[in-house]
Amino acid sequence: MSLPFIDLQAQRTRIENDVNTAILAVVQSGRYVLGPEVGELEKQLAAWCGAKHSVSCANGTDALALPLMAWGLRPGDAVFCPSFTFVATAQVVPWLGAAPVFVDILPDTYNMDPASLDAAIARVKAEGKLKPKAVIAVDLFGQPADYPAIKAICDREGLKLIADTAQGYGCTLNSKHPTDWADIATTSFFPAKPLGCYGDGGAIITNDSRLAELIESLRVYGKVTPTDAAERNFHHDPKYLSLRVGMNSRLDTIQAAVLLEKLKIFADEIQLRQKVADRYSAGLKDHVRRVPKVIDGGQSVWAQYVIEHENRDGLQAHLSGQGIPSMVYYPVPIHMQDFAAGWAPPAGTLPVTEEASRYVLALPMHPYLSEADQDRVIEAVCAFNG
Ligand SMILES: Cc1ncc(COP(=O)(O)O)c(C=O)c1O
Repeated sequence: MSLPFIDLQAQRTRIENDVNTAILAVVQSGRYVLGPEVGELEKQLAAWCGAKHSVSCANGTDALALPLMAWGLRPGDAVFCPSFTFVATAQVVPWLGAAPVFVDILPDTYNMDPASLDAAIARVKAEGKLKPKAVIAVDLFGQPADYPAIKAICDREGLKLIADTAQGYGCTLNSKHPTDWADIATTSFFPAKPLGCYGDGGAIITNDSRLAELIESLRVYGKVTPTDAAERNFHHDPKYLSLRVGMNSRLDTIQAAVLLEKLKIFADEIQLRQKVADRYSAGLKDHVRRVPKVIDGGQSVWAQYVIEHENRDGLQAHLSGQGIPSMVYYPVPIHMQDFAAGWAPPAGTLPVTEEASRYVLALPMHPYLSEADQDRVIEAVCAFNG
C-alpha cells in the first residue's frame, strides 16, 4: 500500500469540525476579504514570535517582494541569497530590477554559510558594479539559519536582513525567533508547509512599525497609511488614493479562519514532527551518507526530513517500487536555472550547493506518521544496497 508523503487528511480528521465551523462562519458573515479573522490571525502570528507586527498577504512570494518594495530596491542593487532553496527566494529580486547574488550553504544544515556570504559581499564590493543592499536567509527544511553570524555581517555592512521562513515559521534558535535578528520574517501558508492553509497565503512578521505600515499600504495598491493621513491634508476620501506603486496581495478571510484553527495545534504538531525526525535519525544514521543536523540551540519545525545517499536516484526508485514516496528538494540549484542565467556566480563559488543537490532525498514527513509506517520507510532505506 502506498504511503502519503504529507498526510494533510490526518490533520483534517483531528480538527475537521472546528475548521468546518470556522469556514462556515466566514461564509455566513460575507466578509470574505480582510475580514476580522485576518486581523486576529495577524495578531496571533506576531505574538507567536514575540514580535510587534504581522501583515498577511496572498502568498509567501509576495511576502518576500513586499519588504524589497518598501525599501525601494532598484536596478544596481544586490540582494544576497542562497541558491539551494525554492526559486521564489531569488526570483522576487529581479521583480524590482535588482540582482540576486548567490551564496553557498553549510553542508550539514543546508542553510546560508556566513563565510560564503562574507566572500560574496567582498566580491561585489571589489567589482563595484552593484550596491549591496539586503540579505535573504532561508530557514530551509524548517530549521533556523545561523542568524547571529548573518546578522553580525549585515550590521557591519549596513544591509537589511529578511528571514525567508516559508518552510520554518515557528522555528527557534536559542529559544528566539528569526525576527529577533532579521528586520523582517516572511512566511508561506502553502498547504504543504508546517503551518499551511487550504490554498495560498502568506505573511510578514516584523518589529519595525514603519515597515509594517508601508507593507500594509503596498499590499493594497499603495493605499494611504495612518502616518500619511496624519502628515498630509487630503482633499479626497483617502480610501481611493494611491500614494505608491503597490500590488493586490491579500489573504482570504476563509484562509485566516483555517489558520486560526491550525495555530491551536501547531505547537503540538512541532513536537510530533520532532518525534518523527528523532526516530528517523536513530534508524537511519548508520545507513545513509547523512541524516539532518540542526544548528546547536535550534528547534526545527521539520517541514522536511532530508537524508543524503550516494545513489540517491537508485534509492528513490527502490522506495517508489515499495509504495514509498520521496522528493528531491532541490535537484537544480537556482543559479543553474534558466531564468537565473544573467546572475550566475563565478564557477566554483557554490560547491556545497551543487554537491547537496546530487545527494538529497526527502522522506515522508508529517506529524501523524505512524511508527509502523515510519518503520516501513526506515526498513526500506536500510535494505537498499544500490
Ligand atoms: C523557501 C521558500 N520561499 C518562498 C516560498 C514561496 O511561497 P508561496 O508558494 O506561498 O508563494 C516557498 C514556497 O514554496 C519556499 O519554500
